[in-house]
Amino acid sequence: MKIAIMGYGTIGSGVAAVVERNAESIAKRVGEPVEVKYVLDLREFPGDPIQEKVIHDVDILVNDPEVSIVVETMGGVEPACTFVKKALAAGKSVTTSNKALVAKKGTELLDLAKENHVSFLFEASVGGGIPIIRPLNQCLTADEIVEITGILNGTTNYMLTKMDKEGMTFDAVLKEAQEKGYAEKDPTADIEGFDACRKIAILSSLAYGSQVDFEDIYTEGITKITDTDFKYARKMGTSIKLFGTSRRDGDKFHAMVAPVMIDASHPLYAVNDVFNGIMVEGNMVDKLMFYGRGAGSLPTASAVVADVVEMAKNPGKTLVQSWSTKKLPLADKGTWERKFFVRVAGGAEKKAQVEAAFGPVTYIEIEGLSEFAFVTPVMTEAAYEEKAAKVEGVLSMIRMDV
Ligand code: HSE
Repeated sequence: MKIAIMGYGTIGSGVAAVVERNAESIAKRVGEPVEVKYVLDLREFPGDPIQEKVIHDVDILVNDPEVSIVVETMGGVEPACTFVKKALAAGKSVTTSNKALVAKKGTELLDLAKENHVSFLFEASVGGGIPIIRPLNQCLTADEIVEITGILNGTTNYMLTKMDKEGMTFDAVLKEAQEKGYAEKDPTADIEGFDACRKIAILSSLAYGSQVDFEDIYTEGITKITDTDFKYARKMGTSIKLFGTSRRDGDKFHAMVAPVMIDASHPLYAVNDVFNGIMVEGNMVDKLMFYGRGAGSLPTASAVVADVVEMAKNPGKTLVQSWSTKKLPLADKGTWERKFFVRVAGGAEKKAQVEAAFGPVTYIEIEGLSEFAFVTPVMTEAAYEEKAAKVEGVLSMIRMDV
């Protein structure tokens, strides 16, 4: 079984390593040895065991009938999309780790795979090495999915964990995450929540069977979270995590990416550092938890190669992994109900205003600060916004799931 890898970066090189290191057990599972025939990249890799396999022209692998499976680990929408389309049209199954590609072009590529009697799989595009796509597709088919809530971005989870446990400021922890190679030089996609947004869009499309456009999902990153928020959180016995959530509420569907304050009773409370955690709630099975490394060369490659094995075991078949092209309309974020944690500049004189707007609330005060915080009762986000507008000096708000 000959495969080709497109993009020899962190994940692509991990795929080559997994195929080589676990060659024997993979061959047993597939029924024949799996071998990397080509590595497509713009660069050369002198001294690397794959140096003889490097090609620079995608048509070489597309036109080679010996290659039946293609791994796309280039990242970004283009040229990855054009290359994947060429491979599918040539009758090759494709697996990708590229969430930008799946979130933007997933529906089209799934259809193209079906037309060509091949498969398009993307286990590694969400949660790195965590098996989550296959469980949603194959194991939870008896359930209606009620909710998916995930810590889907390792970089921001590392940053929030450091702010929580070590009291670090946002700027200091971002610098450290960049030095450690977790955060990119341009960390926008991680810290603004765009990466988590694409991942929850993919999971939601699979879970609810209709296309969820990532552009429709309200997305807030962690850039407004400060060390002061964590001082309050510590006093309240809570923590703050960046959640990608989608929820079915009767016939309404909500989806959002935002920092959320949770306490120790939440299943995702103990998901720290660069780890990812995904909670899935089905109407029969109840709550399930998936936990593991959401990034990194070998963990992510493990998920990619698992797709390769699955496709190699099912030649000529389209492995069903699909959602309808019908767009799933998302409910207005104003209709989502929850409690809110709110910080207000000033002192006791402001509390009358707070209570006039919100009714009785729970206050949290930290000595030495010229501000205070309070927790609202459960209300819709629209009601919160209307009431908060009546209070002068609102500094910030964090949604709560406690
Ligand atoms: N930047 C991503 C993260 C990589 O930090 O989780 C994995 O998608």
